[in-house]
Amino acid sequence: MILDIHTTDSQQYISRINALIDGKTKKAFVHTFGCQQNEADSEKIRGILKSLGYKVAESFDDADIIVINTCAIREHAEAKALSLLGRLKGLKSSNPELIIGVAGCMAAEPHVVKMLKGNFKYVSFTVEPNMLHRIPELVYNAIVENQRSFIFSMDSGDIVEGIDAVRTSGHRAWVSIMYGCNNFCSYCIVPYVRGRERSRKKEDILSECRDLVALGYKEITLLGQNVNSYKDATDFAGLLSEIAAIDGDFVIRFMTSHPKDVSPRLIEVIRNNTPKIAPYFHLPLQSGSDTILKRMNRTYNTERFLSVVSSLREAVPDIALSTDIIIGFPGESDEDFEGTMNILDKVRFDMVYAFLYSPRNGTPAAKMDNQIPREIKNERMARLLDLQERISEEKNAPYLDTVQRVLVDSMKEKEGQLVAVGRAPSNKLVTFIADRDYKGEFVNVKITRAGRADLYGEKI
Ligand code: 5AD
Ligand code: SF4
Repeated sequence: MILDIHTTDSQQYISRINALIDGKTKKAFVHTFGCQQNEADSEKIRGILKSLGYKVAESFDDADIIVINTCAIREHAEAKALSLLGRLKGLKSSNPELIIGVAGCMAAEPHVVKMLKGNFKYVSFTVEPNMLHRIPELVYNAIVENQRSFIFSMDSGDIVEGIDAVRTSGHRAWVSIMYGCNNFCSYCIVPYVRGRERSRKKEDILSECRDLVALGYKEITLLGQNVNSYKDATDFAGLLSEIAAIDGDFVIRFMTSHPKDVSPRLIEVIRNNTPKIAPYFHLPLQSGSDTILKRMNRTYNTERFLSVVSSLREAVPDIALSTDIIIGFPGESDEDFEGTMNILDKVRFDMVYAFLYSPRNGTPAAKMDNQIPREIKNERMARLLDLQERISEEKNAPYLDTVQRVLVDSMKEKEGQLVAVGRAPSNKLVTFIADRDYKGEFVNVKITRAGRADLYGEKI
């Protein structure tokens, strides 16, 4: 069901807290771990806290309420969040009025919630990703009733509209188009913590995009665990072409795509709309071994993956490609790993995000035999990064002497000079010497040096 936050029970809590805060300066700080989806959720959490009357705090120290938006994708991400929570205990002791909440994917894992309830008594509430609209009630319980709340496993499949995000960037915006995932890749926790796939209404997405363009946003990134399975009055290809038809000077990006769902129609829409749709595609391969892909439940094989890559390159010859690789999935033999190395060599991605396999509680892969020892994983990681560094450098070289239209993200001072950093259409990082602040503007930059990870140039 599509709900509006203003017509849910949350509205009464918003009004009550507003009345309590009225005239006082109260501040909220939201800290984010994890992916872009979490960044987008954090902007919504800030929006909800703002609607309650909280101003944005600059740091943990000057906040009256802190929300940690957590990630559960790998053990390392969870460890970082728990360590931060540990450090916040001191703040709570010196300021007993401080409210600390935990949001995000960890807040949807029953064993984590149980632990927070039992061992982290200073945590006032947890809220899973599908329940963000209930934050007003949780804050109310904490500050008025002095009661802790833990809500999870209530995936209703609803979509809540009407939450005004407090966006962190004035020129790049995230727009979620769908939530959840139905794919159940055997290593992945996401379907368990973010629930089943559901798509926002096309009209809601289009009107959000039109508003963003009118406000001067220069880049819109469409988000979903698997954007290619978007489904409403149109499919993802249809949605993309309607967004591309919005008048204005802006760039469209999207992530993440599942190789099994990349359709010829989608490739056609990208071809017909570059560079408004950026010539960049993130296509997670995960493994170059068909045996492992099968056990990962990825439902494509290397042949299908390679054919998607060929079609993309045929349609948009200068398209930049990136991928995700998991190293050391249970049972990954030397031969399986060589398969991954071979395919990286063959495809020559511009960028590879490689992760050591991390067993996730409750997923099928965590119970599989033949878990790979850490030393072997590390060794494979080193070899993969070595290969990819060379490839990335070779992929960057042809950009030399080309002119790239760079959207500037940030300005900094380096050795007494003003330097701008932004992204080219291919999503490559570009740094150039600037004569003034160009943040949020498109600037034509001639590339004078191509490094391994990024490009350098001069404004023309
Ligand atoms: N261990 C390691 N990497 C994982 N990913 C997802 N689950 C795991 C896991 N259990 C990686 C995948 C995915 C990316 C977002 O994170 O490569 O595409
Ligand atoms: Fe996880 Fe697979 Fe869904 Fe991506 S498609 S979120 S890897 S289950």
